[in-house]
Amino acid sequence: MSSGLVAALGPVTLVRGDIGDAQLVRRTLEEHRVTSVVHFAGKICVAESVRRPDYYIEHNVRRASVLLDEALAAGVRSFVFSSSAAVYGVPSGSPISETARTEPISPYGETKLAFERLLAEKEGLLWAALRYFNAAGAHPDGSLSERHEPETHLLPLAIDAALGRRPALQIYGDDYPTPDGTCIRDYVHVIDLAAAHLSALDALSSGTQLGAVNLGSGRGHSVRQVLGAVEAALNRPVPTLVVARREGDPPTLVADIERASALLQWRCDRSDLATIVRDAVRSRR
Ligand SMILES: NC(=O)c1ccc[n+]([C@@H]2O[C@H](COP(=O)([O-])OP(=O)(O)OC[C@H]3O[C@@H](n4cnc5c(N)ncnc54)[C@H](O)[C@@H]3O)[C@@H](O)[C@H]2O)c1
Repeated sequence: MSSGLVAALGPVTLVRGDIGDAQLVRRTLEEHRVTSVVHFAGKICVAESVRRPDYYIEHNVRRASVLLDEALAAGVRSFVFSSSAAVYGVPSGSPISETARTEPISPYGETKLAFERLLAEKEGLLWAALRYFNAAGAHPDGSLSERHEPETHLLPLAIDAALGRRPALQIYGDDYPTPDGTCIRDYVHVIDLAAAHLSALDALSSGTQLGAVNLGSGRGHSVRQVLGAVEAALNRPVPTLVVARREGDPPTLVADIERASALLQWRCDRSDLATIVRDAVRSRR
């Protein structure tokens, strides 16, 4: 582990180490008689991946493949991987289904796709590559808020800007071909994502091969709509500054969630924008 919050783990046995450390991974799998792996670890910042592609290949592909090989050697047969909508790049249509062309436009997306391909090559392995869209929200008890270093996600940045803890929120372009000119994304609540991982593990252990599965809400919201929801929840304005578009930001990214509904009984009860924003605000006050 190189970043992240220990407090977010709850009551689990924690072994600190690197997924590329074959000996540690082997010992851990053996000692704890691991039968399934859920692989969240990775480098997650798109902009950083553009600056340091080799670093992303090293962690997200090479070291992750050490984990995968050790897991297979230890007899693990189910593997759930945190993939990303970044594998699609700039999609030609919306909503995006898993059969859409995968043409990542960042090294981050490329590493996610490369690891999916490694999973697909492994004979006898039951696997799921859960392609998250925009993970957002927080546990409804408010005890833990989203935190990344550096923070790049819209909701924490918007809430902090409204509370005066950060400068004005930068909107990356307001001249996109969308109703209000800002980019449309599909926000999915972390509690719903967690439930999908449990369903995926159940499906894999009963012998169902899953492969790639989109996890989104199936609905799109523009940056300005999200900011409006934050303002309503906090009853104060979010200061904003419109800046240039970011390279490679598609106007709209919304998931087709048919496959998740069919294979994982995906209902995403908490992924409406008001609930996501309310939970995120509660955790950050
Ligand atoms: N947050 C999102 O919106 C989102 C969207 C799509 C996909 N994902 C994927 O979900 C996963 C979790 O994302 P997150 O938002 O919780 O990110 P995060 O940065 O909070 O968590 C990733 C964790 O992986 C650890 N890690 C990185 N390299 C490691 C290595 N070599 N060995 C051991 N640990 C290592 C980091 O220390 C960190 O604790 C990531 O794989 C990410 O790519 C996240």
